[in-house]
Amino acid sequence: MEKVWPYHGSSTTAGAIHPIQYLDWYIPRLQQMRKYNLSYSGLQYVWDFEKYLAQSLSDVGYHHIPSFSNSEQMVADRYGVKAENVVITQGATQALNIALLASIDTLDDEKNIVAVELPAYAPVVQTPLLLNCDTIPVQRRPPVDGIGPWRINKDEWLGVLQKSKVLMITPQLNPCGWDYESSDRKWIIDTCKNMGITIISDEVYIDSMKGSDDYKPFHLEGEHCISVNSLTKIYGLGPLRFGWIIANEEITLNARRVFLTLSGMMASPTIRLASAVFPHLDLAIEKIKHYREINLPVLRKMLARQNIAWNEPPYGVFGAFKLPNEFDSIAFVDGPCADNSVLAIPGSMFSEELSGWLRIAWSIEPKLFSEAILNLEKALISIQ
Ligand SMILES: Cc1ncc(COP(=O)(O)O)c(C=O)c1O
Repeated sequence: MEKVWPYHGSSTTAGAIHPIQYLDWYIPRLQQMRKYNLSYSGLQYVWDFEKYLAQSLSDVGYHHIPSFSNSEQMVADRYGVKAENVVITQGATQALNIALLASIDTLDDEKNIVAVELPAYAPVVQTPLLLNCDTIPVQRRPPVDGIGPWRINKDEWLGVLQKSKVLMITPQLNPCGWDYESSDRKWIIDTCKNMGITIISDEVYIDSMKGSDDYKPFHLEGEHCISVNSLTKIYGLGPLRFGWIIANEEITLNARRVFLTLSGMMASPTIRLASAVFPHLDLAIEKIKHYREINLPVLRKMLARQNIAWNEPPYGVFGAFKLPNEFDSIAFVDGPCADNSVLAIPGSMFSEELSGWLRIAWSIEPKLFSEAILNLEKALISIQ
């Protein structure tokens, strides 16, 4: 079995720094340009930059500071917080890095231990290892009866949290797309508060819930909680590299200093383009709702035809299911999927335990999606 899952363990430097193994696997598959791409965890959305930028398109190479209001305020207004609680970063991945640097106290002799939730996007797990921290995994697992939110084992989590200073989580979980069950979520927030643990919450997928009662960013849950987000996934703008941290004022001040130290200024094209689309971001959320209405019934029917159990998350653009006959997901994507020009994501990218799971995204336009599902069905039939 190919090892593509995130690496947990002791901090590393220089030649011992671990590769992000899933990217070594994924990028060559993306370059194959398979016709049916069900692998995008971000909405595929074409923003009309020329319309939103109007005549200022030619200014992208000039400094933005004299002519633009502060981007922190723009984010603060959208999320109902103060600008003093926001730091802009080059995407969520950098925000994770900065949030951790801003919150770990390394005055102690002992190494800091960071509890990191699995399954996960590998940089969430491997960022602490670059910052002189060791990591211990805490797992979220499929529910026993197969339906509803993935669950935590509180005894297992408590044992790890007792040794940890920081907890890193991804509420809307990749690859299953489910948010926490409400009592699990409350337990995590209360337990970390009582134990003085900072929670860094990677929220790149939760804005698909924005506008619903279920939308609950962690920064609202107390001074010990930090939210990280970006324009990458729900807003389909990964290449812009525009992300943010929302936290208490002390962490924000530290984080701003870290950002200026590591990166200097944000790029002017990034600020100009992000400012142009920001007032229109809800268009992307509407698009996701539309894709769910049209694409999900097609997926549901196909999985029912193939007798595959499907635990559909109520928000977002992806979900995951277990392949028939314990089939290995990398072998499936490299074999039967490749034969039918389909690309999907093996669960092993997020955790070794999910080697038999496949993530499917409905982030593409409906005609192509329904053709893709027919081709995925051919691949599934070949392993039944
Ligand atoms: C959980 C999670 N966080 C962050 C990212 C990347 O975000 P950004 O492009 O803003 O760095 C990804 C991308 O796959 C992800 O799955």
